[in-house]
Amino acid sequence: MNSPVMQGLQLNTPSFVKNAKLIAWVADMAALCKPDRIHWCDGSQEEYDQLCQKLVDAGTFRKLNPAKRPGSFLAWSDPSDVARVEDRTFICSHKKEDAGPTNNWMAPAEMRATLQPLFDGCMRGRTMYVVPFSMGPLGSPIAHIGIELSDSAYVAVNMRIMTRMGKAVYEVLGVDGEFVPCVHTVGAPLEPGEKDQTSWPCNKTKYIVHYPETREIWSYGSGYGGNALLGKKCFALRIASTMGRDEGWLAEHMLILGVTSPEGKKYHVAAAFPSACGKTNFAMLIPPKAFEGWKVTTIGDDIAWIKPGADGKLRAINPEAGYFGVAPGTNYQTNPNCMASLDRDVIFTNVALTDDGDVWWEGMGDAPAHAIDWQGKDWTPAIAKETGAKAAHPNARFTVAATNNPALDSAWDDPAGVAIDAFIFGGRRATTVPLITEANNWVEGVYMAATMGSETTAAIIGQQGVVRRDPFAMIAFAGYNMSDYFQHWLDVGRRLQAMGAKLPRIYTSNWFRKDENGKFVWPGYGENMRVLKWMIDRIEGRAKGKSHAFGVSPRYEEINWNGLDFNATQFDKVIDIDRAAWQKELQLHQELFQQLEYHLPQELKQTKAEIEKRFAA
Ligand code: GTP
Ligand code: SPV
Ligand code: MN
Repeated sequence: MNSPVMQGLQLNTPSFVKNAKLIAWVADMAALCKPDRIHWCDGSQEEYDQLCQKLVDAGTFRKLNPAKRPGSFLAWSDPSDVARVEDRTFICSHKKEDAGPTNNWMAPAEMRATLQPLFDGCMRGRTMYVVPFSMGPLGSPIAHIGIELSDSAYVAVNMRIMTRMGKAVYEVLGVDGEFVPCVHTVGAPLEPGEKDQTSWPCNKTKYIVHYPETREIWSYGSGYGGNALLGKKCFALRIASTMGRDEGWLAEHMLILGVTSPEGKKYHVAAAFPSACGKTNFAMLIPPKAFEGWKVTTIGDDIAWIKPGADGKLRAINPEAGYFGVAPGTNYQTNPNCMASLDRDVIFTNVALTDDGDVWWEGMGDAPAHAIDWQGKDWTPAIAKETGAKAAHPNARFTVAATNNPALDSAWDDPAGVAIDAFIFGGRRATTVPLITEANNWVEGVYMAATMGSETTAAIIGQQGVVRRDPFAMIAFAGYNMSDYFQHWLDVGRRLQAMGAKLPRIYTSNWFRKDENGKFVWPGYGENMRVLKWMIDRIEGRAKGKSHAFGVSPRYEEINWNGLDFNATQFDKVIDIDRAAWQKELQLHQELFQQLEYHLPQELKQTKAEIEKRFAA
C-alpha cells in the first residue's frame, strides 16, 4: 500500500478473494473510512460465534439462558435508533424526475460532496467488516451479489442470518464478477485509546443513500434494521427495483406463500402489505380446523423478486435467507410457526429481558412479574399500568434463519422460483376498505395497488396511525419514479397477455377494520385462511362473488364459517362499502394522482374515471 492514508493498515486480502475491482474498492473505502482493522468475513460458524462473543464483551449482546433459548442473544439499541428513517433516505439519480415526488432526492455530485467529510475517518478505532452476500440462491441466474462494508459486528452477524453470506460468494464472484457495493458506518469514530461510551454507537445525523445509475449504497449513522442491513430494503428493493425496470422484472415488498388443497393442488400467492401490516403472519399461517387437509408453506416473508418466464408465468423467489420480523403481537395463538421458529439461534433486538434470562414482549402471553425493558430499566405490570412504559419497543424485532421455520416451503430455495397465481395488496385501514376485493382485470388491479392507503406503523420513525397512500406497499422502497413504476407493472402485464398467458388475479385486502369501540372486527391471523380459500374458489370458478364499483367481493355464504362465530351482520361490518367514505377515498386517490402527474399512466386515469362512473350509477 503506497497510499499515505493506508499507512499501518493491512488490507490482508485473503487468498480466496480474486476480484480485482472488489480489492481496489475495499482499499479505496479503507483509505476513506480509516478503520483500525479489516476483517474479511468467511461466513463460518466459528466466525459467527466469535463475533457474537465480541458483541457480548462490548455489552451490545446479552447471551440468553441456553436452557430456555439456546444460541440466542438480545441487543438493545440506542433509543434514537429504533426503526427505518424515511426522511433521511435518498434516491440520488442524475435527474430529479427519475427519483420522483415520493422519494427524497439530491444530485449525485452534491450528495457525494455531502457524504465525503462524513465518511472521512468514520471508522477510526473500529474494524471494517467485509461482508460478501448473495441475494437469492448462490450462483443462480436470478441471484445478485452485494458486498457490504460495515464497522458494526451486529450488522455482520445479522447479515449472516438474513442473506447467503460467506466465502462461497467470492467463488461465484470470480475475478471479474459484478457486485453492488454497499458501505455502512454507524458514524461513531473513536479517538486513539478511546473506548465506546455506549453499547449501541450511532450518530444523530443519518443518511441512507442510493445511487441507482451506478448501483451503489451508502448508509451513515444508524445501526438498525433496514437502515443498516443493506441487502434488505436498500439492495433487494430500492436498487433491485431499478434493475427490474431496466431488465423487465419486479422487485417487491411481498411475502410469498404456497397453499396446498387436500387434493394436493398447490397455489402460490404473493402479498404486499406495508411495514408491520401482517406479511410475516400471513406467510406462516396455520389453517383453522375447518380447513382440514389444507396446508400453507412459507417461501418468503418480506421481499419477492418476480421474473416473467418463457412460459408466460410470473416466477417469484425470496432473495433473503432469514426473517427480520416484528416481535410484539407474536404469540402461540396468532403465529405458532413463528414462535416455533424462535426456539433457538435467534438475535432479538429491543425486546425485554426476563429474570430467567429469556425474552418477553407485549402480546407474547402472560406478562412476567418483573423484567428489564428494552431501555435497560426495571419493568413490572404495575409500572406499565402507571406510566404506560413498554417492555419491548413496538418495532422490536427478531432475526432468524428461514430454515428455523417449521412451515418452510420445500421450494423456498429453488432458483427457478414458484409460479404466482394471485397477488394481494393489503393496507391497514380502520374504515372504508373491505376485507377482500378481486380486481376486474390486471389494469384495475394495478389501480387498486397504486391507490392503496395504510396507517403508518412503528416500523418507521415518525407519527404512527396516520393514513397515507402507500402504492404497492412500496412508498419507501421504489428506487425510481412511482409513476414509471406503475407503468412498469402495466407493461409487464401487457407483455404477458400478448404471449397469451393467464395473468395472476389481483386482490386487495384489509384485515384491520375496527368497530365503534376501536376493536378489530375481523379475527385475522389464521382465520385469514377463510379469505384465502375464497380467493382460490374464485380462481377455480367456484365462487360467483358480488360485483360492486371496485371489483368483486365475497357473499357471506361463499365463505366457510365452520368453527368461527361470525354472523352476517359482523361480516357486513368488514365488507360493506360506505358511499360517503368512498367519496372521500376517491378524493385521496385524486390527490395522489395530482402528486404523481408526471408520467402517470393514462390507463390509470381512465380506470379512475370508470370507477367513479360505476360508483355514481
Ligand atoms: P415488516 O417486517 O415491517 O415488513 O412487517 P410485516 O408485514 O411482516 O408485519 P407482521 O406480520 O410482522 O405484523 C406486524 C403486526 O401486525 C403485528 O403486531 C401483528 O400482530 C399484526 N397483525 C398481523 N396479522 C394480523 C391480522 O391478521 N389481524 C390483525 N388485527 N393484526 C395482525
Ligand atoms: C420494514 O420496515 O418493512 C421491515 C423492517 O421489513 S426493516 O428491515 O427495518 O426495513
Ligand atoms: Mn418489510
